[in-house]
Amino acid sequence: MSAEAILPGDIARRVIDPHAYAEWDGLLDTFDLIRASTPVAKVQPDSPGLFEPFWLVTRYDDVMRISKDNAAFLNNPRPVVFSFNQAIEFSRAATGSNMLVDSLVVFDAPIHPKYRKLTQEWFMPRNLARLEDELRTLAAATVDRMLEQGSEVDFVKEVSGPYPLRVVMQILGVPPSDEFRMQMLTQQLFGGQDKDLSGSGMDLMTPEQVVQIVAGAVKTFEDYFAALAEDRRRNPTQDVASVIANALVDGAPLPPRDMAGYYIIVATAGHDTTSASTAGAMQALARDPEQYARVRADRSLLPGIVEEAIRWTSPVQHFMRTAAEDCEIGGQAIKAGDWLMINYVAANHDPAQFPDPRRFDAARSPNRHLAFGAGAHQCLGLHLARLEMKILFEAILDRVAAVEPAGEAARATSTFVGGLKSLPLRVTPA
Ligand code: HEM
Repeated sequence: MSAEAILPGDIARRVIDPHAYAEWDGLLDTFDLIRASTPVAKVQPDSPGLFEPFWLVTRYDDVMRISKDNAAFLNNPRPVVFSFNQAIEFSRAATGSNMLVDSLVVFDAPIHPKYRKLTQEWFMPRNLARLEDELRTLAAATVDRMLEQGSEVDFVKEVSGPYPLRVVMQILGVPPSDEFRMQMLTQQLFGGQDKDLSGSGMDLMTPEQVVQIVAGAVKTFEDYFAALAEDRRRNPTQDVASVIANALVDGAPLPPRDMAGYYIIVATAGHDTTSASTAGAMQALARDPEQYARVRADRSLLPGIVEEAIRWTSPVQHFMRTAAEDCEIGGQAIKAGDWLMINYVAANHDPAQFPDPRRFDAARSPNRHLAFGAGAHQCLGLHLARLEMKILFEAILDRVAAVEPAGEAARATSTFVGGLKSLPLRVTPA
């Protein structure tokens, strides 16, 4: 490895510092700098043993190649970067596994394709079409509630937060009365790096304390979904919870830990992500009143806005892969066992693929972004995410004549799933 492939400490720190992800332009500047100088660069911890060094991959083409080669680049055993060594040790002691939750994102072949197949059809557009009326009702009620708050609202609090959460809970058959608990648990799983989101001071805790809280959240999830699965075995419905509860793999039901992991990944992967891209779309529209007026008049522009918002926000900021064999990427010699960060924020702002990448361009074509990943693990919920965003924005365009920013928006401090945590807006009802 050439010496310059190791990122200088101050830059490397920004790649893993959750606070750096709250400063979007600064973060994009950092990735531009790294991509231009060392597109595949080594990130090493300040103190030895804190976490395993990893390769940061920032170019679109390299992220695409790694994502699609699921035999050479494995998800197991460490699919996300906050797998600090202490946290992994603690998790092993608690569960016997590196991860507190074993789910689709942790498995590789041959288990992964078998598990994925169980719900793949359910998440295809043909089946999701059944949900459209329900989503329309939910979207209309959400927008009505927002308008009841008056002319100044926090869009994240009133709309982009609650709506995707309710959608996911609805497909899992979780009643509204349990939603708040689910949201708290998700934020403990994903938002622990942001003091406003975890609400528990997790940002000030040691990795071991954080893992303890997360382990508690996982246990609560597991117990909750075990009861739900039991109910769906006795009374199956058309929801995805019933599909998982009654699924057979090689003739046998899913083991309890894997079944809980399946529910947890669907419950958690679908809302903060969609919430972030929904808030991003609204922010872009609020900053550009002419664009808002155009799409109100011509709804055929909406899918372009939704797709561009998903690229522009890239809510899932990275995943990790482990090399199964020696190879070369971006001129660097990667060894079997090396850990790699495929950074979707950096890849989706690669000027070689997306001209003027920081510009929100609803007419961008092609827009083959990597915000949903690619390859065997590509987002299972991508059609649902697009559908629910489209339906929500139809309801907004119907009921809101104009929208403009009403203060500073704020981003979450999080290295993994990130996005706006508040978006103050002034809205004019139609
Ligand atoms: C805009 C919203 C969303 C974004 C940006 C997003 C992004 C992603 C990304 C980047 C991955 C990993 C892909 C890879 O490794 O190649 C993923 C996986 C996944 N997503 Fe999404 N997601 C979104 C919404 C949803 C929704 C609505 C659901 C379901 C309700 C969902 C469920 C899943 C699941 C189950 C996986 C794991 C798939 C696997 O490992 O096979 N996601 N998502």
